[in-house]
Parts: sequence; structure tokens; C-alpha cells
Amino acid sequence: MPVPVLTVDGPSGSGKGTLAQTLAQHLGWHLLDSGALYRIVGLVAVEQGVDFDDEIGLAAIAGHLDIRFTPANPGEPAAVLLSGRDISSDVRSEQSGYYASRVAVFSAVRSGLLALQRGFAKAPGLVADGRDMGTDVFTDAPLKIFLTASAEQRAERRYKQLIDKGESVNLAALLEDIRLRDKRDSERAIAPLRPASDAVLIDSTALNREEVFQRVIELLRLRSLI
Ligand code: C5P
Repeated sequence: MPVPVLTVDGPSGSGKGTLAQTLAQHLGWHLLDSGALYRIVGLVAVEQGVDFDDEIGLAAIAGHLDIRFTPANPGEPAAVLLSGRDISSDVRSEQSGYYASRVAVFSAVRSGLLALQRGFAKAPGLVADGRDMGTDVFTDAPLKIFLTASAEQRAERRYKQLIDKGESVNLAALLEDIRLRDKRDSERAIAPLRPASDAVLIDSTALNREEVFQRVIELLRLRSLI
């Protein structure tokens, strides 16, 4: 029996990270936060002085990562260990999100991370969160979700998160940033952000977290995956 894989792809701010984490905890399945891997490649590159234009150097980093995600308490993200060192807060910084988008454009980096990502598919199952989980990494996954929300809604959610963290932010600037990032992610030559042809599209603009979660659970049942 192959290990069931549920892929959750979509743009930043669609809520896919929270959805994937909630589903993995509920199902007792493993979780792959693929964005974290790109973030870590960027962080290690900065640490080792490897240039963001050096595709070969970046790919070498991607191919040799010693990463562990330690189980979290319910509702909390897992701690990220790089060669045993806890780098969780660096991984979640805005800065590392920028580094990730720089290193993610290279095909050698993307293919360097393939084996590592596929290695996360272990019994009893895997929830894989990213941009290309359904289109490139787990093309045979029995259920693929593509989660979207309007740019306005995503900007508003991000705005609230940052305000809660005590940061001063401008909603119009956030919206502009999200639109630019969407454009860059969907127009890039390698692994552009797009739903797999067999993905189920869920627009979360008018749905709350619980409604989205229930919809996915229903789909898993319909496909006899749970
Ligand atoms: O999901 P997260 O915000 O952590 O991703 C950071 C960046 O990493 C994205 O903006 C994208 O450029 C890149 N990424 C990617 N493919 C993935 C996951 C993330 O290209 N599967």
C-alpha cells in the first residue's frame, strides 16, 4: 500500500500553512512544510557567504541539509533543527521568506530538494504544504488541494497577524506586495504557482478555517483516504 499524501498548495496568505498543520495533527500524519526548506537554504547561504546568484553553490546546500522538524504541541508550529541547532525563529522571519523566494527560482535548487521532500512520505500519511507539491513533488498524490483567497483578504489577514505581533504596517503596501509576489510566483519559468490539473480548488475568501478544514476532511472521506 502506498503511503497516502495530501498536497496543499496555494499563494502566500491563503491559510494553507495553518490548514496543513491542523490536518496533520488531526490525522496523525507527518507534515512537510516545504517553504521552510527553501527558507533554510537561503539562511545557510547567507551564513556560508554563498551568493544568491550562485546556482551551483545553492544547489550544493540544498542537497546536503540535515533537517529535523520536532513534533509540536497542538496548534503550535514544529521546531526546526538544522544539524541539531534550533533555528525556528530565523526560519519564520520575513527576511528568510525573501531569501526563499530568491533561491527558489533555480531548477538545481528545486531538484536538490526533491529527494529530501519525498523522504517525508512515511506511514501513516503525509500532508505536504507548498507551491508545487501537487504539480512536481508528489504528482501521484490521491488528493490535491489548491487553496486560494482574494489578494485583499490575504493582505487583511497578514495585516492582522503583524499588528498582533506589535509591528507597524500599512495595509495598502501589504496588498501591493502580495500582488507583486503573486505575479512573480505565477510567472516564473520554473515551477510556477498553478493548480495541478487534478487539484480541487478551494477559495477561502468567504470561508473560515473550520469550514475549509471540514471540506478537506469530507474530500478525504469521499476518496476513502480516512
Ligand atoms: O510558504 P513559504 O512562505 O514559507 O515560502 C517561502 C517562499 O519559498 C515562497 O514565496 C516561494 O518563493 C518559495 N517556495 C517554493 N516552493 C515551495 C515552497 C516555497 O518555491 N514548495
